[in-house]
This record gives sequence, structure tokens and C-alpha cells, in this order.
Amino acid sequence: MASAVKRIGVLTSGGDSPGMNAAVRAVVRTALYHGVDVIGIRRGWNGLINGDVVRMDANSVAHILNRGGTILYTARSEEFRTEKGRERAVATCKLLGIEGIVAIGGDGTFRGCLALSRHGISVVGIPGTIDNDIGCTHYSIGYDTAANTAIEAIDRLRDTMQSHERCSVVEVMGHRAGNLAQYVGIATGATAVLVPEIEWDFKKDVAERIRSARLAGRTHFMIIVAEGAFRDDEIMKNPGSANKVASMIKEELGIDPRVTVLGHIQRGGAPNARDRVTATRMGYSAVECLVAGKTNRVICHQHGTVVDVDMEEALAVGHKLNESEQLVLEAMIGEDRS
Ligand code: F6P
Repeated sequence: MASAVKRIGVLTSGGDSPGMNAAVRAVVRTALYHGVDVIGIRRGWNGLINGDVVRMDANSVAHILNRGGTILYTARSEEFRTEKGRERAVATCKLLGIEGIVAIGGDGTFRGCLALSRHGISVVGIPGTIDNDIGCTHYSIGYDTAANTAIEAIDRLRDTMQSHERCSVVEVMGHRAGNLAQYVGIATGATAVLVPEIEWDFKKDVAERIRSARLAGRTHFMIIVAEGAFRDDEIMKNPGSANKVASMIKEELGIDPRVTVLGHIQRGGAPNARDRVTATRMGYSAVECLVAGKTNRVICHQHGTVVDVDMEEALAVGHKLNESEQLVLEAMIGEDRS
């Protein structure tokens, strides 16, 4: 069957995540397999606005499957939010003959896709963010690698906290979402986990938990704080959730916690097997959609399968914390057997 598109573009946008390169590779290889030309668009939507593009072939994606970051670079484009910026992006598509775009990123990236599709360009989104906060998909590329990076760091911290009988407060990324913190909290046997989606009370959810762990004989404590735990709208401008919690602990319990902000370390590193395979499957499915003449799709991971979902419907699904993981976490914290 002839492909519905002859030339497509691929870009990465928003915060990078391990596995984005694997997705780019899969897009390029699948397109070439169907005889479709691929243009790499650099620096997210800015690249489309400025014509910052590179022709991709099988060699241009060789040896990137195992590499963190994104060879296409990434950015958050203010200009693409404006009508003028979008017109320039459409003009680049027309000039270069780009009929379809695969955009790898988060919700913001998909909104950008929708704007382009109104100008007749076919679009498919692939979820790529360590936050795993995109409602329509159970999984976004990079989450598992980022979680494992955090877990490894926290295991190391636990060794030294145990030796010194200390309390550690660790800040985990996630923007306004607590999924990563929740998941990491389960995997590290945290004493307490604070996430933005659940109303928390410092005395009950932190101080009392440390107290009861101490009464049960523990002498070191691991508190995981999602960076958005204080639900501060200015979170990106006023970071410091872990420091705030540490000060509260000092004030309330008289112990002197050590603070570790894991930060961008969580975004780097080689993608693990789950991220390589998921990214490859998603990249493949995105191109299959465009080749089949589909547009406005988001490639989602649902119940263990990769499916494509209407983009407007996908964006209408709000973010939710994983409820079953939360129940498990509460039971584990209640017992505190770490
Ligand atoms: O969305 C991914 C993410 O890493 C968030 O967890 C974090 O809040 C944000 O990006 C950090 O953004 P920046 O790279 O601009 O510091």
C-alpha cells in the first residue's frame, strides 16, 4: 500500500528524557522502510520556525539507541505559542514539503501538534517525559530509567544515613506530578512520601511517621519529597521543597536532616530496556499512523499495549496519580518495615 505521506519531520520538545533517541531512531528507520523521507527538526518547535533542520538517513540514527538526551536537541518554544510563530512553522513545512510531523514530548508538545494540524499538516505525538504525567498513557518514555537513577542514588544515601543515624530528605523531579516520587518511594522503602496530588499534613504525615519509626527502633529515616509537593504555582521559579521540609523537621523534632535534590541527574543516562523497547515501539507506531493516512493521534501505552488515541481526546484526559500504587505505598509506610 502506498504511503499517505512522502516526507515527514521528527522533533523532540520540552524536557528531554532517556529513550527519546531510541524513538527518533525508530521513526527514521520505520519511515525509510516505507520509502518515506525524514527531516530531523532541531531544538523543538523553534527548529520548525527557523528552518533548523537536517536530513535523516539510516546512518544518522546509528548508535543512538543506547544514548541518553536527544541528538535533535530540545527546547520549550515561546514563539510557537504565538500565531506568527505557528505561521512561520507552517511556512517551513510548505517550503520543505513536510506533510507529517512526529513530535516527542509532553502535553505542551501535543498542543503544539494540534495547532499545526489546523493548517493541514498530519501530526502524531509520542509521550516522552520522566514525569509520567500524561493522562492518556500509562507510560511515557524515560520514566523507568529516571526512576532507577533516583533509586540508585537513594540506595547510596541510605548507606551513609544508616551509618550516621540520620534523616535524609530527597527531592525528586516531576513538576506538578507526584508519580515519580510515589514510584521511587515504594522502591526505596521511604519513611514518608509527599506528593502534590494528595493533601498532606506535616505533623501527621512526616513528623509522626519519623517518631513512630524511631519508637519501633529505626535510627535513620528517608523522606521523599516531590518537587511540586507544596503545590506552588511558581514551582519552577521557587524550587526548594526538600529544604522546606527539612527545616520543618528540624524545628519539630530537633534532628538535623541532610537534603539531596536529585535534579537533572534524573533526566540523563542510558535508557534501560523498558525505555528502549517502548520508545522503539512508539516510534514505529507513530510512522505507521502517518503512512496509513491517520492524523491527530497520540501513541499511548495502555494495559501493556501500544495504541493510538485521538489527540483531542488524549489531551482531555487529566493527569491522575496512580491509585493502586498509592494504596500499596500507604500500607508500606504504615508498617514501615524498611
Ligand atoms: O518535565 C520534565 C522536568 O524534568 C520536570 O520534572 C521538571 O520540573 C522540569 O522538567 C525541569 O525543567 P528544566 O529542564 O527547564 O529545568
